[in-house]
Amino acid sequence: MTPRASACAKIILLGEHAVVYGFPAVAVPVRSLRATAEYDAGPPPLRIEAPDIGLRAVLEDLPAENPLGFCVRHTLDVLHIPLSGGRLRVTSDIPVASGMGSGASVSTAVVRALAAAAGKTVDAEQVSAIVYEVERIHHGTPSGVDNTVIAYEQPVYFVRGKDPDILAAGGSMLFLIADSGVRSATRDAVAGVRERRNKDPERYDGIFQSIGELTDAGRACLEAGDRRMLGRAMFESQGLLDAIGVGAPGLTRLVDAARNAGAWGAKLSGAGLGGNVIALVKPESAEPAEAALRAAGAAAVFRTVLEHGNHPPPQTKSPHGT
Ligand code: PMV
Repeated sequence: MTPRASACAKIILLGEHAVVYGFPAVAVPVRSLRATAEYDAGPPPLRIEAPDIGLRAVLEDLPAENPLGFCVRHTLDVLHIPLSGGRLRVTSDIPVASGMGSGASVSTAVVRALAAAAGKTVDAEQVSAIVYEVERIHHGTPSGVDNTVIAYEQPVYFVRGKDPDILAAGGSMLFLIADSGVRSATRDAVAGVRERRNKDPERYDGIFQSIGELTDAGRACLEAGDRRMLGRAMFESQGLLDAIGVGAPGLTRLVDAARNAGAWGAKLSGAGLGGNVIALVKPESAEPAEAALRAAGAAAVFRTVLEHGNHPPPQTKSPHGT
């Protein structure tokens, strides 16, 4: 049997950027979009294939800073897996550089597939820790929210350096994720915020504090199933994200379109400057809201539902299967 594993995408509901400075974030898995890794045993050398990004290489030939190469080496090292041959094939249907965690998802699938190939069981905490090290290559100073929500595949309340709180929604929530079509590098957006904060720490720390308060309020709304108030926290967060300079005209158009189509709330999600807008919509207005987002320039619109209550993740404790 070919060890095969997958990992979900993610979307940040509240708290991006402030989370880098120790404030909380709330993020949810997007289970319908996934990265997959398959390992076929074979003689040395170990080959890596990622057709989506045109990569076909022998592991040893990949430079140290190549995230996929680093992920494989680091996983084999940390989990003490003596694998020197075969083929690892990675695919993903998660849009890249758009705030959906494609890098962390690919890494998570790779860790799970390699662990499965060695017959090892890894839990979400271990997976998350390995993927965090890979995220440092992608992002420089990641908060850890992406690897956490993806490895746990659960809605999380995340504070840097602490164990995540797993959240249960108090009511089912329908989100539209609208891709602005503008790619933006998280590393650059985070570096820009840091530069501006260093020039005016008091103002920026005040905004981060306000984002943190909205995130705490949003968590309570999510757990209580209060969509209207959660939406309000999302709209307010958008204003604060604009204030720290990670907005963009294309994102504003999408947020306005969602608001005019009757969404409870909408905001950019992830690093900003491009990427996605997330909108919390009433089920009955999902179709007109989707059409409005497309008319406002969305290159793609995904739907994702956060189900009411707890739902056991498919892969928290076991690396096997999808
Ligand atoms: O990976 P993205 O684009 O969803 O952005 C991550 C969110 C930030 O808060 C901007 C950075 C971080 O490390 O948490």
